[in-house]
Amino acid sequence: MHLSRLRLIDFRNFKELDVSFSRGINVLYGDNAQGKTNVLEAIYYLSNLRSERAARDQQIIMHERPLAFLKGVFETCTGSVEREVTVFSDKKKVVKEGGSQKSRWSELCGDISSVIFSPDDLNLIKGEPSLRRKFLDAVIYHIKPGYMKYLQVYYRVLAHRNKLLKSVKKKPSLSDNIDPWDLQLCDAGARILSERLEFLNRIGADIIDIFNNFTGAGSVLKINYIHSVNFTSPESIEHDFLNTLKNSREKDISRCFTTCGPHRDDIQFLINGRDARFFGSQGQQRMLVLCLKMAQARILTRERGEAPIMLLDDVMSELDIARRKLILENHDSQVFITTTDLKFIPDDIVEKSNLYRVRAGSLE
Ligand SMILES: Nc1ncnc2c1ncn2[C@@H]1O[C@H](COP(=O)(O)OP(=O)(O)OP(=O)(O)O)[C@@H](O)[C@H]1O
Ligand SMILES: [Mg+2]
Repeated sequence: MHLSRLRLIDFRNFKELDVSFSRGINVLYGDNAQGKTNVLEAIYYLSNLRSERAARDQQIIMHERPLAFLKGVFETCTGSVEREVTVFSDKKKVVKEGGSQKSRWSELCGDISSVIFSPDDLNLIKGEPSLRRKFLDAVIYHIKPGYMKYLQVYYRVLAHRNKLLKSVKKKPSLSDNIDPWDLQLCDAGARILSERLEFLNRIGADIIDIFNNFTGAGSVLKINYIHSVNFTSPESIEHDFLNTLKNSREKDISRCFTTCGPHRDDIQFLINGRDARFFGSQGQQRMLVLCLKMAQARILTRERGEAPIMLLDDVMSELDIARRKLILENHDSQVFITTTDLKFIPDDIVEKSNLYRVRAGSLE
């Protein structure tokens, strides 16, 4: 699948843009603050219907304007798909495909996807466990849409349980009211845990394979799921989760929050036996994030039969030539890559890429 045309109106610093792209590698180059990242954000927005970096949708609207309009034409193996999104400053966004309005994900073409790698993603390794859980959860629900429902139920029940714990602390006689919430929490929680374990197993093999390609012999990567619920077998997760909750109830009441469950878990990356979060070099951490994103692209390609669009924001300068080539040559998807200077892209790759100069909200 690839994006063949992009139109923007009042999107960030793009007053108006209408540009065609082809398969293969598209390089967006230009000075700082010209709009390179904004183009990647627009492509990501069209394919995922949300921004990776904007906390609120309205931030993508050009300052002082009432709305932003984005349109992409995607060529998929089943034909050409036109998708439009209008984001308003004062009401819900409108999504259209093939000219008609869509209100659910399931109504949209499932072949369109993109994976973005940006400098902020370093937090995926360095940051809090919640970021790693979010990454894994997103990998799963992009492939198994039903998973989102379990997450929603789980977090809703968790919020209720935590509120109840506060009340019980003040009034211990309410303690029996916790039981039904525990049952619901374990039901949704067990499904989340078993999906995470299964998917981490699958994507973990890809991450390690890609890591080995990058680093060669000498570095060994191991990936662990750190769980707060001790279970004896995959079949007994729900039962064991319930027991763990019972055992920690006193502690939970005194702290007014639920101290065990998938919302407390983490994913650990060990390079040569040491946790990369605390002991990895900056370069190793960046490399790991790239491996995670490339593995995500691989799993999407395998599951959907279409490679996602790869959006690589400013990653070349920190890698050596061999690794730059490995990234750019090793997939059959459409790639968008930004750089402040073409010298960061290997010459033979520049030769076969489409080059776009980004200057003050326009593409040349
Ligand atoms: N909502 C908005 N309305 C108007 N301009 C915006 C909006 N949001 C961001 N900008 C501007 O867009 C410009 C380009 O931002 P962008 O992040 O795309 O730059 P860039 O080319 O990727 O630069 P760098 O090389 O530094 O990463 C910036 O000057 C920024 O102030
Ligand atoms: Mg940028």
